[in-house]
Amino acid sequence: MAFLALHVLIGIFIYFSSVKGSSQPQARVFLTFNELQETKTSEYHRISHSPLDYRILLMDEDQDRIYVGSKDHILSLNINNISQDPLNIFWPASANKVEECKMAGKDPTHGCGNFVRVIQSYNRTHLYVCGSGAFSPVCVYVNRGRRSEEQIFKIDSKCESGKGRCSFNPNVNTVSVMINEELFSGMYIDFMGTDAAIFRSLTRRNAVRTDQHNSKWLSEPIFVDAHVIPDGTDPNDAKIYFFFKERLTDNSGSTKQIHSMIARICPNDTGGQRSLVNKWTTFLKARLVCSVMDEDGTETYFDELEDVFLLETDNPRTTLVYGIFSTSSSIFKGSAVCVYHLSDIQTVFNGPFAHKEGPNHQLIPYQGRIPYPRPGTCPGGAFTPNMRTTKEFPDDVVTFIRNHPLMFNPIYPIHKRPLIIRIGADYKYTKIAVDRVNAADGRYHVLFLGTDQGTVQKVVVLPTNFSASGELILEELEVFQSNSPITTMKISSKKQQLYVSSDEGVTQVSLHRCHIYGSACADCCLARDPYCAWDGSSCSRFYPTGKR
Ligand SMILES: *[C@@H]1O[C@H](CO)[C@@H](O)[C@H](O)[C@H]1NC(C)=O
Ligand SMILES: *[C@@H]1O[C@H](CO)[C@@H](O)[C@H](O)[C@H]1NC(C)=O
Ligand SMILES: *[C@@H]1O[C@H](CO)[C@@H](O)[C@H](O)[C@H]1NC(C)=O
Ligand SMILES: *[C@@H]1O[C@H](CO)[C@@H](O)[C@H](O)[C@H]1NC(C)=O
Repeated sequence: MAFLALHVLIGIFIYFSSVKGSSQPQARVFLTFNELQETKTSEYHRISHSPLDYRILLMDEDQDRIYVGSKDHILSLNINNISQDPLNIFWPASANKVEECKMAGKDPTHGCGNFVRVIQSYNRTHLYVCGSGAFSPVCVYVNRGRRSEEQIFKIDSKCESGKGRCSFNPNVNTVSVMINEELFSGMYIDFMGTDAAIFRSLTRRNAVRTDQHNSKWLSEPIFVDAHVIPDGTDPNDAKIYFFFKERLTDNSGSTKQIHSMIARICPNDTGGQRSLVNKWTTFLKARLVCSVMDEDGTETYFDELEDVFLLETDNPRTTLVYGIFSTSSSIFKGSAVCVYHLSDIQTVFNGPFAHKEGPNHQLIPYQGRIPYPRPGTCPGGAFTPNMRTTKEFPDDVVTFIRNHPLMFNPIYPIHKRPLIIRIGADYKYTKIAVDRVNAADGRYHVLFLGTDQGTVQKVVVLPTNFSASGELILEELEVFQSNSPITTMKISSKKQQLYVSSDEGVTQVSLHRCHIYGSACADCCLARDPYCAWDGSSCSRFYPTGKR
């Protein structure tokens, strides 16, 4: 199996090398860190010369702030200019926790600090913030004031345990969502890092989690992201989607495969009455596929999900889900971008359940009777108006979910193939953000792709044709001084700014720098940057409804 995949990868590699020549697609314009600074379309911020593992965790476009977690610090930055009046809370782990952490043999610099990994908006005045606390996670409430002009930013509570809210190990991802003052986290709940869970905490109701040590539910997951997504018009049918990859043992029990997955739960799930007590009774998951098909029908997977971006529209059903994937092969550095219709994802969750049968425990679509309400349906929603809580679900619904959490059909991208593929490049994509642009000649989706080399590529894809050939790298920007991987990325279309983090710091860059294409009309037009147009005297930002 591994051999076959490798053979196909080599095939693809040769194919792409022969089609495009041995070189990788080049950006129209490459700007080094210093050149980017000179364009005055970028700001860089850090609080120390030592690497502190910065993560942009929350963007508040109403209050004009972005919130950043790092080792031992919580930062509140001005969204218009991150270097202007930054606010900073020093929040280290306690000295004896750091000592215990070192005694336990953990890495003193990359483990035994308080790595801030959760920042959520709690209420109108407070944030809820959690850090790894030197392998002993802790959480606090932070007062940020009612309005940003107040310049309030301070811890406003005692530390409480962050167990079930934030992973102990800062190198193990934590993802989270806050709804109505309840926190939903995907993380590892124990010191050893063996007990992965999707957990609801900070609640006046009971805590709820995934079935413990049940590899049918979660199998050594690495969490990537989490989002609340509406389903139909009834707000009670909204679900939380967790994006992750997991390691599966195959039927022979020996080799392990990596699958990218989407799981979802209903936020109002309070667990079962007789079985699955304090466990999710609405947990379902499906495989997310990003692959290329050979002429002979062999499928090669970009199996490792790295990041997702939801491009929302007025109608939730037309939301696009962009995913970045990489290969787990140690021989080729490969990445791909795949795009999914949210409606295709929902169709898979409404389709057949997977069922193991036969001597080889083959997965087949479940053929038996499906109990009512359909497993995965939210209580109090459009389909279960007479069941207000999951405790009213019949036993057969709960039993079914426990044994059949997996959907049979995988989720395929638009056109069943990646939008962008990179194989044999000396970089890998790590993060993605997407902007919709109205240009002089139509609507474009512009992709901002962060790499493991500390650069951001700005890529445009022609709107009418979702094929790899319509792709153009407009700019490649060195957003950090050294080439440390991009760890988080947020976009504000409203502010026309991109925010990027790495181990080194945080950088803000404008989505466009039209003047860099040159001072001639031809340079401007040939650049094909949808943000820019020739205005008669220079290459400048194009506004479709503007005065010009
Ligand atoms: C951002 O703020 C810094 C510090 O106040 C200032 O030096 C810089 O010029 C500002 N940048 C812009 C684009 O206004
Ligand atoms: C927000 O929550 C904090 C912490 O529980 C509390 O002290 C504060 O009063 C709350 N603020 C509002 C506006 O409800
Ligand atoms: C959860 O239940 C409460 C009370 O019934 C309801 O107000 C709320 O809208 C529900 N939330 C979701 C996301 O279903
Ligand atoms: C999209 O591009 C591909 C490859 O260039 C081409 O074969 C296909 O016909 C195009 N489709 C549309 C709808 O333009």
